[in-house]
Amino acid sequence: MDIPESLRARSYELLKKNQRHFGEFTYTVPSPNTYPYQWLWDSCFHAIVLSHFDLEAGKNELLSLLSRQFDNGMIPHMIYWDDQGFKNTHRLKIDWGTKGTSSITQPPMVAYAAWRIFQKNGEISFLEKIYKNLFHFYKYLINERDPHERHLIGIINPDESGEDNSPRFDSLLALPPIHNEEINYQKRMMLVEENKKCNFDAPFCMKNFFWVKDVPFNVIMVENLRSLSHIAEKLGHSYDAQYFNKEAENVALSMRELMSEDGMYWSTFGEDYQKIKVKTWAIFSPMFAKLLSQDEAESLVSNYLLNPISFSAKYSVPTVSQDELSYSPNGFWRGPVWMATNWFIYKGLLQYGFNDEARKIKERSISLIERSGFREQFNPETGEGLGAEDFTWGTLVVDMDED
Ligand code: GLC
Repeated sequence: MDIPESLRARSYELLKKNQRHFGEFTYTVPSPNTYPYQWLWDSCFHAIVLSHFDLEAGKNELLSLLSRQFDNGMIPHMIYWDDQGFKNTHRLKIDWGTKGTSSITQPPMVAYAAWRIFQKNGEISFLEKIYKNLFHFYKYLINERDPHERHLIGIINPDESGEDNSPRFDSLLALPPIHNEEINYQKRMMLVEENKKCNFDAPFCMKNFFWVKDVPFNVIMVENLRSLSHIAEKLGHSYDAQYFNKEAENVALSMRELMSEDGMYWSTFGEDYQKIKVKTWAIFSPMFAKLLSQDEAESLVSNYLLNPISFSAKYSVPTVSQDELSYSPNGFWRGPVWMATNWFIYKGLLQYGFNDEARKIKERSISLIERSGFREQFNPETGEGLGAEDFTWGTLVVDMDED
């Protein structure tokens, strides 16, 4: 099934509608009412979708994101832009101890997004303009987020995973599998206070409060280091290209060594890398960077993706396996379908030639949007739209165009 032309048009319309300007910068808000700021991985998704419609807008999205990079190389996960202090009472106007941005990051999709834009127009000057920012961001992650040099990148707060309330983090927040959203939010805000105390100095924050190596974050790191290596090569920095490629390989090998068991990858916690065996969509994410063997991918797909007890639902793919205690079809990151996770799984399936399965995910994603609109999440059993409205992630269906 091709993406219906009307859906492509509605996607572009939504991105235009959510576009904002601040001085010389242009960015896109994920949802005007619920998420009225700029977010890191959202902007990368926007740039990927915009590469189908308007390359200048895609480039601007990344330029605004990179413009607020910290001196140490980190790119904050939120940019408030209109920040006038913290007068605004919006729930997400959190005091991160910095002005105008958060102090934590998000899955590093930016090199991948930049490479996708380059592939459309072959414009070297854009890559030249942003190379230094990319170089420092990925070096920051390699240097500061891996204090023991085990080649796995750590997150210091669940929000850095992009899946704020995922049950992968319950035990680390001392929460049972079933709890309400408010207590989860409070726990994460307490962690922000701890992070402020350690000055967001990642190695120390990890050691003292939250030492997690998350599977999708590291998968994304591997694939993005590969993109960065291609970018470096194009720019004639062949030593950098080799270096980033080697780093990608190192992370991939470490993931295999420390996260995998019987062909499945699990996020880990603590300095001794204990596995967090909660089945979420993250088990499929290694396919995105082709980290599984063909046999492993086949058994993952047949035992889990297509299994009605776990991840096969009327409106797949639920973000949490239906046989987990924590599964909740309406719970924030605890069961509902999100379009970005569907997109990652779609791309991953294609790496292994599962074109029919990928096509089914695309078809279900399209039918969810046609049924319930551009919502933030969807109940996997009923297809009902949940959370934010006019939410941009649904536009990623435009990029499900390879099967
Ligand atoms: C929610 C999501 C996060 C996203 C943000 C803005 O907090 O969990 O991944 O970046 O909304 O869309």
